[in-house]
Formats: sequence, structure tokens, C-alpha cells
Amino acid sequence: MNKKSDLAPETKIAQAMHHVDTATGGIAPPIQPSTTYVRDENYQLMVPAHSYSRDENPGYLVAEKMLAELEGATSALLFSSGMAAAMAVIQALQPGDHIVAPKVMYWGLRRWLLTFCGNWGLQLDLFDASDPHALENSVTEGKTKLVWIESPCNPTWDVIDIGAAADIAHGIGARLAIDSTIATPVLTQPIEFGADIVMHSATKYLNGHSDVVAGALVTTQEDEFWAGICRNRVDGGAILGPFEAWLLQRGMRTLFLRVRRSSESAMTIAKQFEGHPNLEAVLYPGLTSHPGHEIARKQMQGGYGGMLSLRVTGGEEGALAVVKNCKVFTRATSLGCVESLIEHRYSIEGKSSPIPKDLVRLSIGIESVDDLIADLEQALS
Ligand SMILES: Cc1ncc(COP(=O)(O)O)c(C=O)c1O
Repeated sequence: MNKKSDLAPETKIAQAMHHVDTATGGIAPPIQPSTTYVRDENYQLMVPAHSYSRDENPGYLVAEKMLAELEGATSALLFSSGMAAAMAVIQALQPGDHIVAPKVMYWGLRRWLLTFCGNWGLQLDLFDASDPHALENSVTEGKTKLVWIESPCNPTWDVIDIGAAADIAHGIGARLAIDSTIATPVLTQPIEFGADIVMHSATKYLNGHSDVVAGALVTTQEDEFWAGICRNRVDGGAILGPFEAWLLQRGMRTLFLRVRRSSESAMTIAKQFEGHPNLEAVLYPGLTSHPGHEIARKQMQGGYGGMLSLRVTGGEEGALAVVKNCKVFTRATSLGCVESLIEHRYSIEGKSSPIPKDLVRLSIGIESVDDLIADLEQALS
């Protein structure tokens, strides 16, 4: 029989790392709501690791172990949201440091970076991820301290070559951090390609059920920079509630099943609608017509993810009509959950958005793909 360490990640994740509660024998991890922990007569903590819940909660450990396993990392940290996780990284930089990030990325983070960097004395440059030389041209040796990427980039699904980005970052003495929310650790493990820090909005695929807002960071480099990130969580209190951490570990147990199903269905839908007379384009990295397909093939294993976008003929009006006509897709923001969602990104992001007005974003869930196709067919007719 296999040693436990030889087991496939999906086995370990389904079993929550073979967790057994030593106090009761329960195979589901317990929830510990306590904010504080007892000391004995000599003022020693009863369990040295546990003092106060802004530092950490024993319930995080299972989910953090699962995340580290999924990403091939040595250390993982849960946060109260994906944004809180990203902020903890940016706030570990020093005034004067230079950051580069893609122009098309999660818009909330881009919007925050654009105001925060100025206020914090950080220099920010946004590069065009569809231009293969843009990243290299936007970094400066000795000045750039962080290269932030997202791949595939939300919501056009431009693909960034993680290995090439790591070489560029390391070549000038910078770190590479990646928002890997869309790819998920099932399809891409960025550390394998040289990323230093991997970030997730765990609100999305990791939890997968539209009922927890959470974030995560993982690394293999537990250096001073990582120590600063850990302090930012503790001092800033960007911590996840114990119940949310518990829901997250439960959601992650089915991650492989959900991601594979969503990816298969997204591929089927992308192929079905490519060339549809009422569409200008189908944007999906799994299609050979996608400009990032070759890189995606290299760094995504077992699928291209559950996210795709449709560029609808008739501009904004045409796109909004499709959204309006859908009956099976739910009109809502967010992504990576069991139910399929449809949204018009430009309406959400507003006038400063670089997103085309004719773009409709689809997050493919785990429903019958035939129902999803039939819904889109009728909405596009
Ligand atoms: C790709 C991506 N990264 C980060 C975030 C931010 O995560 P959260 O909403 O958990 O703060 C989102 C949220 O939509 C996202 O889609």
C-alpha cells in the first residue's frame, strides 16, 4: 500500500489530509470559535501555538495544509478575502519600490493599486499582457521589487507565461506573485514555474459554493518578505472567521471534481459557440484560435478552466440583451461556483474599464452542459 505521502493530491484533498480530530475521533475537523486561550498558574499557554484568534485559529490549519499540498508549497495563509491577501503582499513592500501588473486583471485590485500605490509612495506600471515583450520592457533592475501577474487574466483570459515572467522578475532581483484564482491549483501550480507567491480569491473555486468570502497566499520561500506578509495579517486582522475556514476546507474537498467538470463544460460551450453568427468572438484559452493557447497548453494541465467570455454582435445593447434573455445562467457577479453565472463586466466596472462593452463573461458551473448550451442558444437567437 502507498505511504500517505505518495498518495495523489486529489486523494489527500478529498480526505482533508486524512484529518482525524484527536479529541473525539471525528473525521470532520472541529470548529473552534474561541477568541482567546487559557494560561496555567505559571502563566504558560495551555497549548503554546494558541493565544489569541487574531494571530490564528486552530481551524485554519487543515485548510492551510490542504492549500500548501495543492500548490506544492511549504506555507499557506488564509485571509478574510482575496483582496485582503493581495493587500498583505503589496503592503509588505517599502515606499519607493516599483510594482508592475497587467492592465487587464481583477478590476478591484487594479482600482485599489491605482490609488493606494500613490498614497503609499509605491511606483506602479501596468503592462499589456497581450504583448509578449511588454513585461520585460516595464521592469527596471534594482527598482522593480514585485511583478504581479494574473493568468488567465480576467475577463479576456489573456495567458501570461509564468516561467518567462519568473525569469524576468528574478533576473532583475524582483519577486513574482501571481493571482491564480482562475487557473486553480488543479490546472496550474505556479510555484513549479518559478512563482514566489501564489494568491487566490478562495471565494471562487477553492470554496466553490458562493457562500464564503476568503483569500489565500502560499509560498515556498519563508523569508523576511513572507514574515512581513504574515505580520500584516496578524496586525491588520484580515482573518477568516472559524466557520468560514471550516466551510472552505469542506468546499476544497470537492475541488478536483468541480474544476474538471467546469473546465470540460466550458470547453464544450466554447467549441459549440465559436463562429456563432451573433458573436464576434469566443474568448477561451482552450480554443486553438486563442492567442494564449500555446502557453496555456504548456502551463495548464487537464483543462483550461471554467471561465469564458463572449463578444456579442450589436455592442453593449446586444450583450445586455443576451444577459437579459438567459434563464438557466444566473445574472450575478463572481465566479468559480457550482452554479453558472453570467455578467456584463463593463456595467460592473464602469467608465474607466478597459473591458469591451460587447463582452459577456460566463462562469461555468457543474450543471448539465446541455441545459447551459440550450440557454445560450435561445438567449443569442
Ligand atoms: C481573479 C480575482 N482575483 C481576486 C479577486 C478578489 O477576491 P475577493 O472578492 O475574495 O476579495 C477576485 C474577485 O472577484 C477575482 O475574480
